[in-house]
Amino acid sequence: MTKAHERNTEMENLISLAKRRGFIYPGSDVYGGLSGTWDYGPLGVALKRNIMQLWWKMFVDDREDMYGVDAAILMNQKVWQASGHVDTFVDPLCEDTVNHRRYRTDHILKDAGVDVEGFTMQQMDEAIKEKGIKSPDGNQLSKSRTFNMMFETTIGPISSDVDAMDITALRRAVDRSKNGSAVEIEAWTEIAEKRINQGLQERQTAKVYLRPETAQGIFTNYKNVVDSFYPDLPFGLAQQGKAFRNEIAPRDFIFRSREFEQMEIEYFVNPENWEESFAALLKDIHAYLEALGLPADKIHELEVASEDRAHYSKRTIDIEYDFPIGKEELLGLAYRTDFDLKNIHDNSGKSMEYTIKGTNTKFIPHVIEPSFGVERAIMAVLSAAYTEDEVNGEKRVVMKFPEHLAPIKYAVSPLLKNKPELVEKARDVYQILKKKHGAVMWDDNGNIGKRYRRQDEIGTPYCVVIDFETIEGDGTVTIRDRDTTEQKRISISDLS
Ligand code: GAP
Repeated sequence: MTKAHERNTEMENLISLAKRRGFIYPGSDVYGGLSGTWDYGPLGVALKRNIMQLWWKMFVDDREDMYGVDAAILMNQKVWQASGHVDTFVDPLCEDTVNHRRYRTDHILKDAGVDVEGFTMQQMDEAIKEKGIKSPDGNQLSKSRTFNMMFETTIGPISSDVDAMDITALRRAVDRSKNGSAVEIEAWTEIAEKRINQGLQERQTAKVYLRPETAQGIFTNYKNVVDSFYPDLPFGLAQQGKAFRNEIAPRDFIFRSREFEQMEIEYFVNPENWEESFAALLKDIHAYLEALGLPADKIHELEVASEDRAHYSKRTIDIEYDFPIGKEELLGLAYRTDFDLKNIHDNSGKSMEYTIKGTNTKFIPHVIEPSFGVERAIMAVLSAAYTEDEVNGEKRVVMKFPEHLAPIKYAVSPLLKNKPELVEKARDVYQILKKKHGAVMWDDNGNIGKRYRRQDEIGTPYCVVIDFETIEGDGTVTIRDRDTTEQKRISISDLS
């Protein structure tokens, strides 16, 4: 079996387990799906929350220098004009010249084994031409153009009203012009044009974008938080939440989605000592990845070369992970200088300067940004946990989640579900554990062997079984360890 084939099988196994066991389903599945969107089922939402809460605990709650925010997804379009997203948040797009299917040019080249790091769009087109690369359907590819990835909508009662107005005005102009004189035709055409332009103008003013990153919601609140809390530098603002990107080619399960979640920090520093904070945050990132249970030998730091960095960044490290689809970006750490706050300072008319307490020293702080993608963290955790082993000569699939991330901590079963005395005692134990841990599952389906298999597949660390010895003997229960499959008897009071 080739390496690529092994990876594909691993990916297929993961996707199928995620759907079968209620972690992650394709979005809008009943209606045939919606490309690039995914829905979380009961276990997926629990896993996702555990991953996000752990991040919040480690980066916000456990620290004195971090403040949380939760900004609106819809933001004034000026935010995205000033940040450069309206002009530059683009991907290179090329088209199959026969069937008009569209592709990301860099993906086409990457799939053909070409390293596109540092390539301009023109260089990509040249590489396609030189190497005679065709579309996946074997046809010639067009020249590339840029495609802006932000989703647009309009705010307020506008879009359909304007459409209706345009159409009515146009229809009138056409009707009148049939019988009218040249002067009348011109007058009506002018009215129609005016209405249409007015409509277009209104739509432009009402245009908003779904945020493509959570970062800008942090920058726009920088001044608010400084005014409310006046923190000492360095300090950080943290946010978790949805981001939307109209990816040309969403692919690889949740890895590249059109709707996903980010966990971002903007850490404001004095430019004189940004390096210190950069190094400290890099260390904190590794501590979080370790707490996610990701093996250190699968985590790689990529120092992004200056020609590949965003124009505002003076240093970027991408943290890559050995996913089943190959080594890919898990998250990024970037030194963004004062680019964002300076843009806001220049465009909003509000000062973004920070005054060092007790002095007249004022400056716009610089920023270090750790930017995590939740879906990529989930995919890494799922793939790190996925294990196939053998128990008593039988193949078993087990998700070896770290205990603190497991969606369900305990499964409780009566040995036999048709013995009321066992069921009653098992319900008592279930209630005790449920009150204490919340994430506890009642499981009396099928025989014990089947229950263990099912709980292994969803990564439940402990299965508790109530049998006759519990009610007739010393009040102990059997507790089975997911990873070793070892079973022990312990008393109910020692369970937690
Ligand atoms: N504020 C900086 C920023 O957004 P980015 O590299 O564009 O930087 C940060 O995105 C992280 O968000 C990525 O490292 C990745 O984990 C995640 N991410 C970006 N696009 C994604 C997508 N289409 N689907 C899933 N995760 C994505």
